[in-house]
Amino acid sequence: MRIAMIGTGYVGLVSGACFADFGHQVTCVDKDNRKIEALERGEIPIYEPGLDALVASNVKSGRLSFATDLAGPVAQADAVFIAVGTPSRRGDGHADLSYVHAAAREIAANVQGFTVVITKSTVPVGTGDEVERIIKEANPAADVAVASNPEFLREGAAIRDFKHPDRIVVGTEDERAQKVVAEIYRPLYLNQAPIMYTGRRTAELIKYAANAFLATKITFINEIADLAERTGADVQDVARGIGLDNRIGGKFLHAGPGFGGSCFPKDTRALVKTGQDYEAPLRIVEAVLSVNDNRKRAMARKVQHALGGSLRGKTVGVLGLTFKPNTDDMREAPSIPLITALQDLGASVQAYDPVGMEQAKPELPASVTYCDDAYACADGADALVIVTEWEQFRALDLAQLKAKMKQPVLVDLRNVYRPDEMEKAGFTYESVGRGR
Ligand code: UGA
Repeated sequence: MRIAMIGTGYVGLVSGACFADFGHQVTCVDKDNRKIEALERGEIPIYEPGLDALVASNVKSGRLSFATDLAGPVAQADAVFIAVGTPSRRGDGHADLSYVHAAAREIAANVQGFTVVITKSTVPVGTGDEVERIIKEANPAADVAVASNPEFLREGAAIRDFKHPDRIVVGTEDERAQKVVAEIYRPLYLNQAPIMYTGRRTAELIKYAANAFLATKITFINEIADLAERTGADVQDVARGIGLDNRIGGKFLHAGPGFGGSCFPKDTRALVKTGQDYEAPLRIVEAVLSVNDNRKRAMARKVQHALGGSLRGKTVGVLGLTFKPNTDDMREAPSIPLITALQDLGASVQAYDPVGMEQAKPELPASVTYCDDAYACADGADALVIVTEWEQFRALDLAQLKAKMKQPVLVDLRNVYRPDEMEKAGFTYESVGRGR
C-alpha cells in the first residue's frame, strides 16, 4: 500500500514509521521545513524510545520518506492519513480543527483515483462528515471514502502500543475503504489484534470515551487515595483489591499528582464541550476535570504539610518535570502548577529531569534553578519531591541523599518507595494515599 501521512507529530511520525516497518510505502508530510530537513538528516524531533532506530532503518530500506508538499504523495496514495494537531482552542476548550480542515482542502486538490482519507488525529464526533463535505465541495469528482481510525498509543511506549494494540477501530461503512484499511493493518491482524468496524461517528466517539474513561479511573483512585490517607488505609492495596475484579481491571489505578499530558486534559475538555453542544452533558467528566485541576496545587500543600506547615524560606528539590517518564513532553505536566504553587507558598525550587529540562524551562517560572542530577537537586533542600517516576529515581542512594539535604524529607507523589524502608533510612516520608 502507498500511504501519505499528513503531520509528523507524535501520532503521525510513530504511525508512519510503523506502517513503513510493516512493509508499506510511506511518505510523512509536514509543512514545517525545518522539521522535515531534520528528519531527513535522521534527527527525531521528539523523545520516544526506539523511534530513531525505527525511522533510520525504514528510511534506509526506502520505505519511509519525508516531504513538505503533500501534492505528490497524496496523488500516489491508496490511503491518506490526517494526523495533524487538534489543540484546545483558546477560550472555549473546543478542539481546534483548523489544521484538519486545511489538510482536507489540500487533499481534495490533489487526490487521484480511489483514495481512502483517514483521520487519525483525535477529532470530535462529526469531523469525518465535515472532512467529507470539504473534499466533495472542493473537488466534486474526487473518488474518496473518509474513515476514522483513532490511535490509542501512549507516549513513551508508542511503538509497542502501535504494534501490539488491544484493538484497531475503523469507522467506515464503505466496503472499498474497509478493504484498504484491512490491508494496511494486515500484519497486526495476523497477530490477532481485533479489528472493529463501526460507523464513523461511533469511531470518533470511541476515542474520546476511552480517554475520558481512563482519566476518570485515575481521578477516582486519586480521590480514594485522599480518603485512604485520612482513614488509615493503603490506596495501593485498595487499587489491587478492586483491580483484581475483571469488571474493573487493575490498570490506570495508580494514584499520583493528577493526570497531565497532551491528550487526557485536552480530550476531556473537548468531550465536555461536545456534550454541552448536544445537550447531553457529561457531568462525570466535568467533575473529573475540576478535581484533577485542583489536585495539582493541592500537592504543594502536601509538601507544605510535610515541612511542618510553612514553606517560607524553604528550598524544595523537584525530581521529574515531564508529564510522565520516557518522554520530553511538558504539555500540561503536573510539575508546572505544582512548582508555581510551591513558589507562591514561599519556597525556592531547584529541579532535575533526566530528559525534559530544556523543554521545561520555557514552561516553568524563571526563578527555578536546574540541577545536573538527582543528588545535586537534593543538595541543601529542605524537602525533595518526586513528581515523575523516571526509572533512575526508583533506586536512589538514600544515605547519599540524606547527607546532602538540609532536612531528610521526601514527598513521593508516585509511591515509588515504601514507607517502612524510608523510615528505616531516617526520612520523614509522605506519599499518596498511604495512611498507615
Ligand atoms: C493517553 C492514553 O493512555 C493513550 O491510550 C492515548 O492514545 C493517548 O492518551 C492519546 O490520546 O493520544 P498518554 O497521554 O501518552 O496516553 O499517557 P498515559 O500513560 O495515558 O498517561 C497520562 C497521564 O495519566 C500521565 O500524567 C500519567 O502520569 C497519568 N496516570 C496514568 C496516572 O496518574 N495514573 C495511572 O494509573 C496512569
